[in-house]
Amino acid sequence: MQKFVIHGGKRLEGDITVQGAKNSALPILSAAMLCPEESILENCPELSDVYAACRILSSAGCDCRMQNHTVTVKADSIRNSEIPEDMMQEMRSSIIFLGAMLGRTGCCRLGYPGGCELGSRPIDLHLQAFRKMGVKIQEENGILTCTAPGGLHGAKIHLQFPSVGATENIMLAAVLAEGETSITNAAREPEISDLANYLRNCGANITGEGSSTIVIQGVKELHGCTYRIMPDRIVAATWLAAAAVTGGTIRLLEADTPSMEGILDIWEQMHCQCSYTEKTICFSAGKPLHAVRFLKTMPYPGFPTDAQAIVTAALCTAKGTSVIEETIFENRFRHVDALVRMGADIRTAGRIAVIRGVRQLHGAPVSATDLRGGAALLTAALGAQGETVLTELSHIDRGYDSPEKILQSVGADIRRV
Ligand code: UD1
Repeated sequence: MQKFVIHGGKRLEGDITVQGAKNSALPILSAAMLCPEESILENCPELSDVYAACRILSSAGCDCRMQNHTVTVKADSIRNSEIPEDMMQEMRSSIIFLGAMLGRTGCCRLGYPGGCELGSRPIDLHLQAFRKMGVKIQEENGILTCTAPGGLHGAKIHLQFPSVGATENIMLAAVLAEGETSITNAAREPEISDLANYLRNCGANITGEGSSTIVIQGVKELHGCTYRIMPDRIVAATWLAAAAVTGGTIRLLEADTPSMEGILDIWEQMHCQCSYTEKTICFSAGKPLHAVRFLKTMPYPGFPTDAQAIVTAALCTAKGTSVIEETIFENRFRHVDALVRMGADIRTAGRIAVIRGVRQLHGAPVSATDLRGGAALLTAALGAQGETVLTELSHIDRGYDSPEKILQSVGADIRRV
């Protein structure tokens, strides 16, 4: 079993180039299944979730290769419209292959996506939308058989919640469907816009992404293209947190600053200094960090649930008391117990966490419980006094490409053993 051994308290300083976004790469890999011609996807992060997506494509019969952060996908023929159960269990995002598979072949057989550490994560919004588009769904022993005997047709779909996954799935199913699909109360996350940009480059007709109404006119076929995956705003936020807890100064290169406004605002509230251009963020830690009176996670452009754990870790040693409300997932404070073991003063009640800043955290043996919770423990360990041994790295490897190498390059004392 691999673990990180971290000796905290080293001030981080230097440049970090931000990796490509996992939450863009996965839906775009799924979208590549809609294109019989080759797609070349650059800036793909090398992550276990990306490898899992490549395995789903290969099992469907696509030719999929990864080299030097570039994935080449050719989906000239789809041999198998069943997504194997082990692949569905491997990652939650496997569900976004349903929309692409339906769009391409008109049928798909799959199990429910892997159980998730964050809460129940239902897919009812996805399935309701597909039914409106002409898909018949039968369920037997937890396996869904989805077929569109008359082909998929456009529909007017209103989402009761702006679900990122449901918005992506509907877009994937709609680009080759007959007629017009409109999605109201659509998710507005930047990764949705990245997916729309890729699909448009392949010949899709999509408007309105980034707003809450997306309109898709079905086209007869798509072609391939070369596309560069957008930078990862959550990974960028993690490196800012790491600099913040060590009193450091870093520069992020190839960031997507416009998509990070909600995140940068919080660091400014914590008395950190941020100056930025469209692709570069210069960041200096507040000395000391200041508490944030109230922070609530919200769908984009609100503060992202994915950055909540990381900011919580930084607030542990901020001056004053911070209150965080998690509104997206019911079970997203699982990292708190380990932070408390490292000396943090945090109380949780349901979806609220109250963090009273302490002067210093100390190292401890801790385990990652989920991807961003793991990143939060990594952040806390970098600022803590003494040694932290962090286990269950498989969670972190789902979303961070070579994190120890990046942190070493800016002065952290971290080893993977
Ligand atoms: C969510 C995040 C996304 C993040 C991802 C990974 C939001 C709005 N979404 O996306 O930014 O990248 O997690 O951590 O912050 N829901 C239903 N029924 C459905 C689908 C969703 O009730 O069919 C509910 C979920 O239980 C959850 C909420 O909607 O409470 C958000 O889910 P959704 O946006 O779909 O989550 P992801 O796509 O996984």
